[in-house]
Amino acid sequence: MSKKMWDGRFSKETDAAANDYNSSLRFDCRMYAQDIRGSKAHCRMLVEAGILSKDDGDAIVAGLSAIQNDLDSGKLSFVSDAEDIHMFIEEELTRRVGDAGKKLHTGRSRNDQVALDIRLYLIDECKEIRMLIKNLYTVLIRLAFDNLDTIMPGYTHLQRAQPITLSHHLSAYVQMLQRDMTRLDDAVKRMDVSPLGSGALAGTTYPLNREFVAKDLGLSGITENSLDGVSDRDFVIELTSAFSILMMHLSRFSEEIILWATQEFAFLELDDAYSTGSSIMPQKKNPDIAELTRGKTGRVYGDLMALLVIMKGLPLAYNKDMQEDKEAIFDAIDTVKQALVPFTGMVETMRFRKENMKKAAAGGFTNATDLADYLVRKGLPFRSAHEVSGKLVRYAIETERSLEEITIEEFIGFSPLIERDVYEALALETCVEKRTVPGAPAKAVVEESLKRALSFV
Ligand code: ARG
Repeated sequence: MSKKMWDGRFSKETDAAANDYNSSLRFDCRMYAQDIRGSKAHCRMLVEAGILSKDDGDAIVAGLSAIQNDLDSGKLSFVSDAEDIHMFIEEELTRRVGDAGKKLHTGRSRNDQVALDIRLYLIDECKEIRMLIKNLYTVLIRLAFDNLDTIMPGYTHLQRAQPITLSHHLSAYVQMLQRDMTRLDDAVKRMDVSPLGSGALAGTTYPLNREFVAKDLGLSGITENSLDGVSDRDFVIELTSAFSILMMHLSRFSEEIILWATQEFAFLELDDAYSTGSSIMPQKKNPDIAELTRGKTGRVYGDLMALLVIMKGLPLAYNKDMQEDKEAIFDAIDTVKQALVPFTGMVETMRFRKENMKKAAAGGFTNATDLADYLVRKGLPFRSAHEVSGKLVRYAIETERSLEEITIEEFIGFSPLIERDVYEALALETCVEKRTVPGAPAKAVVEESLKRALSFV
């Protein structure tokens, strides 16, 4: 076992199994670039503040750059018994530049170091994930523009309710994804501060310039309290919560795609590139990508729950329990990224079976509300109109017809207020087009909403 950097007060080596258990290197190694960036900023600040000589500072920065290159190229690997990525890089630096390397950690603790690294790492990942969400968002907007006239039934209780358009339906997901992006932006705002200078928990006696470090790293400020600076993981939980909500949206969409791809609904067909077959049933074409996304949502919820439970009993300030935040948030990040790419491809390539959507909207009396509204326009109070329309639905069911198939004479038998223009009022296109309040499915309203969505950055 290599010599520990903190072994001064110890008389024995760490037990191998204990060291293995303790070490986070196998998973926190993915933050090496952020660790190096943070160390360079800290080093430049130490020189600026006169705590470190310029020569030592130059040696450290050059050494860190060389380590970064070797890690990027794979020349240097993480095979080591180091306790974590911070120790790994510091040990490697000292091996390469000697005593100067030992001075890097002046005025710093791994507690504020890890709190910085995870922030930098998450900010970087958020940029990438936001782009992936934006891709799906853009695909949905395009599909929605293509389907402004595609009539389908809208559902409540999974029962056909009122006619809408596919465009209006897709546009609901556009709104969800837009909120998901703003949730990421909000989470980033709160993690965009530097905890360096918090030390182990009580700051430091060196005259550190904390603002210098924050600025060097492009962060918008510094944490206010050193105890909070090292022990706050709210931003990790907040981000995982935002991911959970995003996955919930993908999962609801997945559920609809799975339903719509059934022969019973037959509202869409998935592209062969995004479906799978059965090893026994030759006819099968399964919506695995949607199902897996629905399943992976549970996994991200699990990460969120793990984080909440890890943090709930911890006294201030740092506790080793907090090392457990990494695998949870890394898993959430990996899962969200893995899901978004094929999900977007699946959505982009699926073919809507518009005739079946229209047929479904025409059955199921989705225009019964419009019949009631028609009677209201003719002067009947809404509750009475609702009753007349309900009786007509029952009559239509009994005589196995749709509302439009009832003759005018029959209509008049139910209410003398009904005239020939009722057929125009009952046409599905009319039902959709009459819904012109903001947010409703009328073509012009959805079109305007989609234009606004398109200008969202
Ligand atoms: N690997 C640790 C973590 O991820 C870094 C901080 C360790 N600090 C300490 N004093 N043990 O939380």
